[in-house]
Amino acid sequence: MSYFEDLQRKILSKQARAGIVGLGYVGLPLAVEFANAGFCVTGIDVDAAKVESINRGESYVQDVPTAVLAPLVEAGKIRATADFAAVASLDTINICVPTPLRKTKDPDMSYIVSSCQEVVKHFHPGMLVILESTTYPGTTDELMLPMFERKDHFKVGEDFFLCFSPERVDPGNPQYQTRNIPKVVGGITPACTEMGALFYQQALETVVPVGSTRVAEMVKLLENTFRMINIGLANEIALMCDRMGINVWEVIDAAATKPFGFMPFYPGPGLGGHCIPIDPFYLSWKTKQAGIEARFIELAGHINGSMPHFIVDKIQNALNDHSKPLKGSRVHVLGVAYKRDIDDVRESPAVDIMHLLGRRGSVVSYSDPYVPTLRADGIVPEMASIDAEKGAAEADCVVIVTDHTKFNYARIIERARLIVDTRNALKGHESKKIVRL
Ligand SMILES: NC(=O)c1ccc[n+]([C@@H]2O[C@H](COP(=O)([O-])OP(=O)(O)OC[C@H]3O[C@@H](n4cnc5c(N)ncnc54)[C@H](O)[C@@H]3O)[C@@H](O)[C@H]2O)c1
Repeated sequence: MSYFEDLQRKILSKQARAGIVGLGYVGLPLAVEFANAGFCVTGIDVDAAKVESINRGESYVQDVPTAVLAPLVEAGKIRATADFAAVASLDTINICVPTPLRKTKDPDMSYIVSSCQEVVKHFHPGMLVILESTTYPGTTDELMLPMFERKDHFKVGEDFFLCFSPERVDPGNPQYQTRNIPKVVGGITPACTEMGALFYQQALETVVPVGSTRVAEMVKLLENTFRMINIGLANEIALMCDRMGINVWEVIDAAATKPFGFMPFYPGPGLGGHCIPIDPFYLSWKTKQAGIEARFIELAGHINGSMPHFIVDKIQNALNDHSKPLKGSRVHVLGVAYKRDIDDVRESPAVDIMHLLGRRGSVVSYSDPYVPTLRADGIVPEMASIDAEKGAAEADCVVIVTDHTKFNYARIIERARLIVDTRNALKGHESKKIVRL
């Protein structure tokens, strides 16, 4: 029996032993889906605290309730380890490690490289390896393939199977989760694509095979670049409307009534999260090597990056209208997560805004029901969330940075003296206290 037939049989009978490397926002939900589909899943993570938490059956990812994880751990369907030696007994590996940017906005490939180096040490013929981390086109065939092929001269498509499959998870989205978000997968060879698609078909609703790993890598970058550029456009329109005294939110809502050819994107305090502010720079870095400048990306990056400064100017002007300087004023930030109803503060514009406010001498506090303590790598001093209404009552200005649905906006308006609303969270509320983006 060929390695292809053997692995195919193991996948179809759910006997394949699945491995997930990197058990974060992407890896843990994926582990749960494969376990729910009947596979035994081993998660490998360098973070000992996460490994212990999973083995206790306790989830630390908001989209994976402990009530879902615990029975799977109890039934032996999911276990976690920090030891890559586990790879020796696995048939499949999905790699879901971070892909941040360096300070210079160049891709930081160190997590992919180090996790692959560890996997390769225990790698054996007949395995399927799928990279899920967002990255530049060419990563799977230029960077990963040589590492795996070199191991005992294994031949891709025959002795092992290598794919890229972009992760599209949208944390906090109750409608679309790992299981029902269509999964794009592209392999190095047609046999690799076939194997990758077969594997995902066991656990996910829709699988979309594409012709190569590079196409699959580029799909993710197109999706996120599309979003980043359109948000950049919405932000630029907001800056124009601000200058001309037009309510940008009303403009967008009215434009969105057009039933074709328009898709609403909204302005805000700046980009946040692990994807939209970062991924497009993976593309622009790579295209530079091909002699093409990614001009839309650079421009949108510039506009989006200016939004926290614009918001702080807006707060300063609003306080000025109340005869108060920004220096010495108390500014209370509502919401520090990068988007509504989630607990993730990575790249959150709230951190930039708080940093800028602190630099200009204001006294900053915050409320976030999802983030009890804000630790932002020293960008702002570590601080604790306080009660939103108390914070609003005590502040000279409240700034709504993240429009969590848990905030009682009517009560906040009652108690606050002045509110700068960067998200249109106070849509429908009319008050002289409110200053909108
Ligand atoms: N979070 C999202 O919404 C989202 C959406 C789509 C795509 N992605 C992409 O998916 C990838 C993972 O993102 P995430 O949000 O899950 O990150 P995360 O930080 O939540 O999780 C990554 C995990 O990998 C672990 N890790 C780091 N180095 C490791 C190594 N060498 N070996 C084993 N484990 C290691 C970390 O401890 C962590 O638990 C990134 O490329 C990201 O861009 C994320």
